[in-house]
Amino acid sequence: MDVIVADNAGFCFGVKRAIKMANETLDQASGTVQALGPLIHNPQVVAAFQRRGLQVAGSLEELSTGATIVIRSHGVGPEVKKGAVEKGLRVVDTTCPFVTKAQEYAGRLIADGYKVVVIGDAHHPEVVGIVAHTSGKAIVLDTIAEANALKFIPRMGVVFQTTHSIMHVQEVVGALLKRGKEVRVFNTLCGATTAMQKTAVELAPEVDAMVIVGGRQSANTAQLAEVCRKVNPRVLMIEFAAELTTEWFSGVRRVGVSAGASTPDEVIAEVVDRLTQMEPVPIPA
Ligand code: F3S
Repeated sequence: MDVIVADNAGFCFGVKRAIKMANETLDQASGTVQALGPLIHNPQVVAAFQRRGLQVAGSLEELSTGATIVIRSHGVGPEVKKGAVEKGLRVVDTTCPFVTKAQEYAGRLIADGYKVVVIGDAHHPEVVGIVAHTSGKAIVLDTIAEANALKFIPRMGVVFQTTHSIMHVQEVVGALLKRGKEVRVFNTLCGATTAMQKTAVELAPEVDAMVIVGGRQSANTAQLAEVCRKVNPRVLMIEFAAELTTEWFSGVRRVGVSAGASTPDEVIAEVVDRLTQMEPVPIPA
């Protein structure tokens, strides 16, 4: 099959930065090094880091005395950092600068007397961290229906989960405008995700099918698949090349590939190799 890889597929600047900082920490630290949650949403990368000695802790309570902790690119709430310092831990903060901006805007809006609305997934660690920067006072919603159901808010401040698509937040903000008098919106979308989605959406209508590669827990990978589905319904989301089956590609001659921000180049290359070797399968009569 002909395979076309979208520009900007794979590791974003924030993930590269987090990986570099975690590697430097492992090189330099003499004692235990722990990450609060998996460093990125990619099982191979997390496993490779575990082999190098980076342990994964689920919460502050699980962190060992005297350890160095790595805060991942999704960020955390201020109480987590404070708790770590109080425990005497050395903190290496790899929070992506785009996420830091969203946290700062949310905190500033609350301090200025706005009710903060975060458009995003309430369970995603990034959103949990942003809400914590409003002392838990922010409302999280992710759909037009949820926005329409809000009570009227005189002063509303809005931020977005960084990896959301611009199309999605435009729709939800449109609904929020009817629920507030003064509505202050900060565009906290991440430039890397926006560029990745744009090139994938441009490629999707030009091919018979799109393959989106990335971790199942990765929000930006799921968003990438969703925006592509709007312009080409034939979209397959996979984590590994081994998940590709010739049956799925029945009638496909040209396939596009893009990948979430935590997908390593090697994984993308394996997928491309496997797709290139597949013979186009005719549509069954
Ligand atoms: Fe940061 Fe965007 Fe990557 S928020 S971690 S540059 S996907």
